[in-house]
Amino acid sequence: MSFELDYTAYLRAKVAIDDEALNKRVYGSFVSHLEALSVSKSGPLRILEVAGGIGTMIVRICRDSPSLLGKKVCYDLVDVKKSNLWSAAEYLRENIVKEGETFSVFDGLDSLGSAKEQFGYSIGSHYASSRGDGHISCVLGDLQVNLICSDGLEYASKNRIYDVVISAAFLDLVDIDSAVMDLSSAMCESSLLYLPINFDGVTHFEPDVPTCAEEGFASLVEERFHLAMGSPSGYSRSRTGRKLMRSFARAEEVSLESFGSSSWAVFPYKGAYKEDEKYFLHSILTFMEETLRQDDTLDNRLLSDYIEGRRTQIKNAQLFYLAHNVDYLAVKSLPSKA
Ligand SMILES: C[S@@+](CC[C@H](N)C(=O)[O-])C[C@H]1O[C@@H](n2cnc3c(N)ncnc32)[C@H](O)[C@@H]1O
Repeated sequence: MSFELDYTAYLRAKVAIDDEALNKRVYGSFVSHLEALSVSKSGPLRILEVAGGIGTMIVRICRDSPSLLGKKVCYDLVDVKKSNLWSAAEYLRENIVKEGETFSVFDGLDSLGSAKEQFGYSIGSHYASSRGDGHISCVLGDLQVNLICSDGLEYASKNRIYDVVISAAFLDLVDIDSAVMDLSSAMCESSLLYLPINFDGVTHFEPDVPTCAEEGFASLVEERFHLAMGSPSGYSRSRTGRKLMRSFARAEEVSLESFGSSSWAVFPYKGAYKEDEKYFLHSILTFMEETLRQDDTLDNRLLSDYIEGRRTQIKNAQLFYLAHNVDYLAVKSLPSKA
């Protein structure tokens, strides 16, 4: 059974799974703090999202915090993939624009001049010097979304102007201690850091694939998949969720406000998946296969049988999937007066 992965379609399919998974206490606290900030801020609220993909978090925030849409908000989404940014402009148009509203999209820095004037804030210095990297700007009423193609952590480390910094489902790709430093350095005083969906060492499928069951191959696949998430500094990125606790303990300027589990759990409810769930599950299998094909300790034929068996289980609405993640919310307070 063949499956052709389209990464932006995967990010779209992931939205429904994330909506179920996000830790409600952490997310609720994030939304309340965000609303309080938007009330207390006199100028525009400045939000940075690092590795923001196709902009699904912006849509979620607009849905759950509608009062934000009545404020001046500058939302800078940074991602390394330009194709994600074009999809983000499209995703925003589809999901936040109501009938009769004007949604303007500008491609490139030159068009930004007018948006800059309108919002009266200057964009970060690193961004201003990265002309060649590409940029798309979307304006809907008082909301300006800048879609910036750049390395997200480098960008964060050079722009200490943000009231809110967000990064979802990203930190298991990078070195977390320096990432937390870079993200917190983008925060100005009394600001928020929201880091949901940090993978934390559990990937599990049920039931067994009959053709691979005897060899205990399923457990081996899960184990080798996690081992492949090594980092140059030696720890496995498959445990990013729990390791972040130590990064926060070491970070001097930010303090933890809330944290909790946010597992992805997909199963065929009353014998059927929703369309997004099927696409999501097939995508996860593709990521696993791409990673494990490079592992020469695994038998290639068994791996093919295993992946094929799992895809058949999706087709027959039999596959259960569980992945453990952890969400964090932290705040940077005003410096204490001596
Ligand atoms: C798993 S996706 C998560 C996307 C989005 N946060 C979400 O939850 O839908 C990881 C994203 O990180 C982006 N990415 C990877 N390395 C990056 C980097 N160094 N700087 C910025 N974005 C990066 C990828 O292009 C991808 O969009």
